Amino acid sequence: MSERPYVIDEMISAKAIAARIEALSREIRAEFKGTDKLVVVGLLRGSFVFIADLVRELDLPVEVDFLEASSYGNAMESSREVRILKDLRGEIEGRDVLVVEDIVDTGHTLTHVLHLLQSRHPAKLKTAALLDKPSRREADIKADWTGFEIPDEFVVGYGIDFAQRNRNLPFIGKVRFTE
Ligand code: IMP
Repeated sequence: MSERPYVIDEMISAKAIAARIEALSREIRAEFKGTDKLVVVGLLRGSFVFIADLVRELDLPVEVDFLEASSYGNAMESSREVRILKDLRGEIEGRDVLVVEDIVDTGHTLTHVLHLLQSRHPAKLKTAALLDKPSRREADIKADWTGFEIPDEFVVGYGIDFAQRNRNLPFIGKVRFTE
């Protein structure tokens, strides 16, 4: 699949992403104001750039942890079966938790992760997703904060990959096959 030649057309500029994250973090800061130490949980690997920019805008005491759930593998289709490949290092019982996801697509990954984390009895459990593809949704779920709603396009950049490539692009682009 990744051998097929493609180009990447810019969809959301780095500047637009930065401005949106600034606005989102104002809302998130207001929600968690007064929290002793917020646990921000990044879903690996796609959220690593988003979480880095988001926590630096939050201006709150935060702890950062990561969880990895299986999703696409190297293909472009989402799998319904979600497995936890790497669990959190820290305990979240009684803590305020913000889960940070790159894209909510079918919604199976976020649904599964939230079930798991809820079973550990956090005081508060909220979610922020950079991108949302509502037309692809199969599970009944929506992030509490969404950066951008996008159409059903396969996107890369700003941490998001196609077959492990293009994560380092500073913008979000859509993949267009040339053959
Ligand atoms: P879901 O379980 O279908 O919601 O899948 C969510 C995960 O699928 C995201 O965290 C991404 O890792 C991956 N994904 C969904 N859409 C795209 C895309 O357009 N490009 C790259 N990865 C995607």
